[in-house]
Amino acid sequence: MSASRGEFSSRFGFIMAAAGSAVGLGNIWGFPTQTASNGGAAFVLAYLVLAFCLAYPALMAELVVGRYGQANAVSSLKKISKHKWQHPLAFLVGFGGIICAGLILSFYAIVAGWMISYTVEPVAQLVGAQEAASWITGQSLTRNLLFAGGFILLTVLIISKGVENGIEKWSKRLMPALLGILFALIAYVFSQDGASEGLRNYLLPDFSAIFEPSLLVSALGQAFFSLSLGTSVMIIYGSYISKSENLVTLGASVTLIDVFIAFVAGLLIIPAMYVAQEQGVQIFDEAGKLLSEDTLVFQVLPALFDSMGSAGLYVGFAFFALMSIAALTSSISMLEAPVSYTVEKFGMDRKPATWTIGALIGAVSTVILLNFEQLFGFVIALTTRFGQPLLGLMCCVFVGWIWHRSSLLKEIEQGNPDAASGWFWKIWPWYIKFVCPIAISLVFINSLR
Ligand code: PHE
Repeated sequence: MSASRGEFSSRFGFIMAAAGSAVGLGNIWGFPTQTASNGGAAFVLAYLVLAFCLAYPALMAELVVGRYGQANAVSSLKKISKHKWQHPLAFLVGFGGIICAGLILSFYAIVAGWMISYTVEPVAQLVGAQEAASWITGQSLTRNLLFAGGFILLTVLIISKGVENGIEKWSKRLMPALLGILFALIAYVFSQDGASEGLRNYLLPDFSAIFEPSLLVSALGQAFFSLSLGTSVMIIYGSYISKSENLVTLGASVTLIDVFIAFVAGLLIIPAMYVAQEQGVQIFDEAGKLLSEDTLVFQVLPALFDSMGSAGLYVGFAFFALMSIAALTSSISMLEAPVSYTVEKFGMDRKPATWTIGALIGAVSTVILLNFEQLFGFVIALTTRFGQPLLGLMCCVFVGWIWHRSSLLKEIEQGNPDAASGWFWKIWPWYIKFVCPIAISLVFINSLR
């Protein structure tokens, strides 16, 4: 069965694909802006702890379910259920994750469309098309529809090619490109005045902020979003991993790459803000807080690039290309979740399934764009504040409480024959049974207040 449903051809291929899913706008935009608005290095510290202690175990739960099931999220969760009555629950969690992934893609495509438009703008400037350049970065409905649609189209083109020729091939190309651009930009920003002050602010924690409930809520939400949890994406990627691979180290590699890139993106963005300040750009709001979110990405940084003269065109191009690439390697995983389900459940061919679901998601993005004020923030909150933590939690419950322990161990031992005597098996089952569900619930309840 696995041959007909596709499999990653190598360890490297899987790591690039899963890290590609994890590394996205959440790392390069979300993490630095959250850091800026949550007390700098204190947030970084909380994030590191939560990512390794809660998000990594939860990621392992999803990967192992997928590899055991060798199928989409719904079928895989059904396979680990012990009783028939648990099947509706498996459906709810698996299908809920698939819907969550689709909804995330519908707002993600809008933001990624902005990133692509800002990548194209310097090119338009360079060829002297001034009018086109200002239209491209103006907030018009047509521009938004066009670029979000273009982004979904790119995602569809990759996913329609399948696991090895689409997801794996493109992740292996795009991820190294992303790293190259990221480091080149950091080298450039570090050579500018003001960067060292930004670096100090990024790396020196204000410990008084660390136990603020709001900081922990934001850090956990960020970690779940960043590792693509609670969306069934990692279940489906897990199902494409060969049985001869060691899941424990694969999951750890993906977590390390994800956290590392978020951290490194902070080394780019926060110092860049202080370089912008040196150039006379305002980087603090009236309350004295660092500007963040869209103001940071679409005003502060473009103002910095403008102040660099013609070099700014190249730097701006590289920066937004970086964002667009990061978004694309994530969006392909979001589309794969519903596509794999449709292919396996309804026996549809991959190509028509991909185009149909792509069109559906495009339609949802259009509805969001037409009702932007009411829907954009709502869909983000619905999926990232409620959907992901709750579904991620339910996956832990499935693995910790429903799945037979011996069958779980057998799966982990595939590709890792000494697993039973290793540290992972001593800690993780308890972790997934008690620590993760309790901690995620506590943070979730706190987020409602
Ligand atoms: N992890 C991606 C990011 O950080 C977002 C994502 C969420 C991808 C959910 C897949 C599923 O941008």
